[in-house]
Amino acid sequence: MRLLYITLALMVCALTLADTPYKYLYVPGYGNRSSDGSINARFYGLIYKDKEEDNTILSNFITSGDVKLLRANASTPGEKERLELNLDPFLHWDLQTFEKITFDVKNGNSVTMNDRTGVDGQFDEFHNVPATALQNGAYINYTAAKPEDSRHLYANITIYSATGYSIISDLDDVLRDSRIWNIPYLVRDTILLPLEPVRGMPELYANWSRNIPNVAFNYATTTPILLADEYLRWLYTVYPYGSLDFRPFNIFDFDDIINVRADQVKRLGETFPQRKFVMMGDTSSRDTTTAFPDFARKHPEQTVCIFIRNITATFPDYSNYQINLEKAFAGVPRNKWFVWDRAEDLYLIDVTSGNCHPPGYSYNQTTASGGYGGTATSSSGVVTFSTLLIVTCLALYFL
Ligand SMILES: *[C@@H]1O[C@H](CO)[C@@H](O)[C@H](O)[C@H]1NC(C)=O
Ligand SMILES: *[C@@H]1O[C@H](CO)[C@@H](O)[C@H](O)[C@H]1NC(C)=O
Ligand SMILES: *[C@@H]1O[C@H](CO)[C@@H](O)[C@H](O)[C@H]1NC(C)=O
Ligand SMILES: *[C@@H]1O[C@H](CO)[C@@H](O)[C@H](O)[C@H]1NC(C)=O
Ligand SMILES: *[C@@H]1O[C@H](CO)[C@@H](O)[C@H](O)[C@H]1NC(C)=O
Ligand SMILES: *[C@@H]1O[C@H](CO)[C@@H](O)[C@H](O)[C@H]1NC(C)=O
Ligand SMILES: *[C@@H]1O[C@H](CO)[C@@H](O)[C@H](O)[C@H]1NC(C)=O
Repeated sequence: MRLLYITLALMVCALTLADTPYKYLYVPGYGNRSSDGSINARFYGLIYKDKEEDNTILSNFITSGDVKLLRANASTPGEKERLELNLDPFLHWDLQTFEKITFDVKNGNSVTMNDRTGVDGQFDEFHNVPATALQNGAYINYTAAKPEDSRHLYANITIYSATGYSIISDLDDVLRDSRIWNIPYLVRDTILLPLEPVRGMPELYANWSRNIPNVAFNYATTTPILLADEYLRWLYTVYPYGSLDFRPFNIFDFDDIINVRADQVKRLGETFPQRKFVMMGDTSSRDTTTAFPDFARKHPEQTVCIFIRNITATFPDYSNYQINLEKAFAGVPRNKWFVWDRAEDLYLIDVTSGNCHPPGYSYNQTTASGGYGGTATSSSGVVTFSTLLIVTCLALYFL
């Protein structure tokens, strides 16, 4: 009954927007080469239309909640502009459902998605394309043919070699100073102020991209995909190019939301069975301290190192919830995981050596500070801003 109601509401929405042009948001994907020489590539993004009027529930939230304060606080013209740019997807994007999408790729090849888009407007499918579609031997460049986007933007899927090292990296609080446990800070620093890297990390990743053979960067964030533009504008100006995963918000697949990290790692593991993975997480995102050791226990041969940032070491205010890393990493060899406080703790580690501790650290030492990894590290992480936004987005569909 509810499904029918939603469907009807969305169809009415779609009718009223019939003349508005379609627009796409593309997220950089990744792919591999199949044994027959063809390319297996992940097409990933979403389709939407711009709405004139504000999304009602969201605008209520925005004019009465945190964001109202933010609007009041945005002082410089630069801040005001950034804020409105970032709010725009939440206020005006009408995600397009039931769309059957066809993409054009190089040399007259085209690819049609198997599934129509769901309520979240997303497409996310692996498809086989002939080797002739590959550009410069390294990537697939594609654009939507049907429905068409008059802007004709191009998307990029990087095709990685079968062997090498893949860095699977969380963004929030590993690469970007987000403080996801501190909502006012998170909101302010995500949508009002320019994004800031975690100190010392751009240097580390630049080093890795130069020194690790056949290195691939696969980033993930649990921020909703509606903030993708902001992340994509920023990420590659600071860190090496790579694929990105967002948290999906398909309300019909709660597992998807909860297991987003596990799914990301699993999918990369299946796509690159011969690659070696370095996983980067932190104590404020419990999904990394669960999904990464789980993967390591299931696929020891694919796991090189897991590095967990101890958030409490930098932010003592982060102190509500207990996480026992000893327990989380039970069964994962000591030399494969390490807890760091500052980026510099990682500078002297050579991940290709198979030892994930800096030189001179004993085999059983798990933290840079010399602390024993078994101590409880605290955090809060109850309702984050991302969760709040997702809940709000979902509420839209129950109108
Ligand atoms: C807005 O500014 C006021 C005073 O300058 C401050 O107390 C408040 O926390 C700010 N709100 C946000 C959401 O940044
Ligand atoms: C993608 O293809 C378009 C059209 O051929 C071209 O203009 C653009 O430069 C290409 N982008 C890349 C990154 O190859
Ligand atoms: C597309 O992907 C390739 C391979 O990763 C990369 O070198 C290139 O910079 C990307 N191009 C754009 C426009 O993002
Ligand atoms: C390529 O990736 C797909 C999953 O995306 C996987 O099923 C397939 O086995 C991979 N091919 C090779 C040759 O590793
Ligand atoms: C994290 O840092 C805090 C503060 O320095 C410390 O008390 C705690 O033991 C550390 N946790 C781990 C797992 O190293
Ligand atoms: C870069 O790597 C070299 C060794 O290859 C190391 O000495 C240096 O500390 C590293 N710097 C960073 C910022 O990772
Ligand atoms: C770590 O190993 C050393 C000897 O290599 C031992 O003396 C020490 O008790 C061990 N510490 C822990 C916490 O297991």
